[in-house]
Amino acid sequence: MKKPIDAPRPPLDPDREEMRRLGYRTIDRLVDHLATLSDQRVGRRGTSADFAALVDEPLPRDGLGYDGSLDFFFERVVPDLTKVNHPRFHGYIPCPSSFYGALGEILAAGTNPFVGSWLGGTTVSSLELTVLRWIAEAIGYPTDAAGIFTSGGSLANLVSIAAARFRHGRETLDNGVLYFSEEGHNSAEKAAAVIGYRDDLIRKVPTDASFRMDVGALEALIEEDLARNRRPFFVCANAGTTNTGSIDPLLQLADLCTQHKMWFHIDGAYGGFAALCDEGKRKLAGLDRADSLTLDPHKWLYAPMGTGCVLVRDKDALEGAFAAHGAYLKDIPKEEVNFFDRGPELSRPARVLSVWSLLRTVGLDALIQQIEYDLAYAKLAHRLLNEDPRFETICEPELSVVAFRLVVNEGETEEQRAGRDTALMERSFASGEIMVSSTWIDGQSSLRLVVMNHRTTEDEIRRTIRVLGEFA
Ligand SMILES: Cc1ncc(COP(=O)(O)O)c(C=O)c1O
Repeated sequence: MKKPIDAPRPPLDPDREEMRRLGYRTIDRLVDHLATLSDQRVGRRGTSADFAALVDEPLPRDGLGYDGSLDFFFERVVPDLTKVNHPRFHGYIPCPSSFYGALGEILAAGTNPFVGSWLGGTTVSSLELTVLRWIAEAIGYPTDAAGIFTSGGSLANLVSIAAARFRHGRETLDNGVLYFSEEGHNSAEKAAAVIGYRDDLIRKVPTDASFRMDVGALEALIEEDLARNRRPFFVCANAGTTNTGSIDPLLQLADLCTQHKMWFHIDGAYGGFAALCDEGKRKLAGLDRADSLTLDPHKWLYAPMGTGCVLVRDKDALEGAFAAHGAYLKDIPKEEVNFFDRGPELSRPARVLSVWSLLRTVGLDALIQQIEYDLAYAKLAHRLLNEDPRFETICEPELSVVAFRLVVNEGETEEQRAGRDTALMERSFASGEIMVSSTWIDGQSSLRLVVMNHRTTEDEIRRTIRVLGEFA
């Protein structure tokens, strides 16, 4: 029943002692959860009916209390959650998220800064500029680049295309051409379509035998488009494709973009942070030539989910694309960085705090070392799979994606073999032990095992391969 307005005010904040008690309880549950991740199920496949049976409840008119909600979360929600931070979650792209990153999120939620404007964000806006500069410095991108933390790589790709459209003009919506690799991530093309580019202006460039964008094929498409009086203006290269981790020929593509005065974007959502370590830096030479660069701290910078980022060389293009106006914004100092001028959001959280908390606590060298471990364990997984005669690997792991499949049995069709790949993925996941994912590479079904987690040890890798062997 609705309460009368003169009833005692509802306590939306508990008192100080209760806040402390609930906070400690929450952290205790989280710590126990994280400390036992390896022994928990990676996840469980279920239908909406299965999960509603576990978690659905009628709308509570009267509060049920936080203690019960905390128990409900850990007892009913967490067990069947797909744990993308689990040491044996190797599907898609993992999001390992370190505890220091989670603590940064707690600080963000607890202090609740408004990092849309300079006036709202003040010191946290300033911190965002600092951490963006740290990231640029660490990966070797110009430190005077403009940037912004986004909700993820998809939004970072969208921000980049919007900045390119601003620089090259709205008329590109009629005749500007954007080039994406056939192996590129769909989020970039989706962003182009959302911004308003027609399907015929979005061109897919074939890849070579190593799944890298074929520069010759790109040149041919550009010539074809120029001959049709179109304006090639945007190339999206990959610093690590999602399928195989392949890296496009960044230096050659940068030269081609300079020659044709095109915007050179690099989608480094998966692999960009590999440039923190020497091996990655070598492989990703040319990263610094990008006009815009997508990075995803919630992947290979061990930050919590919801933390992407984009760096853009041309601040005027970035801010021109998103400049916000409104009478109600009249008190905001326009000479400072207002992040609402750099992306589609006005109200936005302090995403920076998770990255700041982690990077400041452990330091860059710890993250470099961890990335080196991930690269080494990917090589180990690749070797172990090659040693098992039931599997074949598809290519050397360029970064930390290992693409592999079951070998074809005598008398078996490719379709039957592909069916066994899928069954292996599904059954090994159903066991709760591991998760790998499946994909199509070169028209053939394949499996992918990605190593990206500070909780993954050599033993965990061996266990994953053993489980794959058991289900093979
Ligand atoms: C290469 C690449 N680009 C973009 C994305 C999209 O990033 P997000 O999921 O953070 O939006 C992904 C996600 O895995 C990716 O691997």
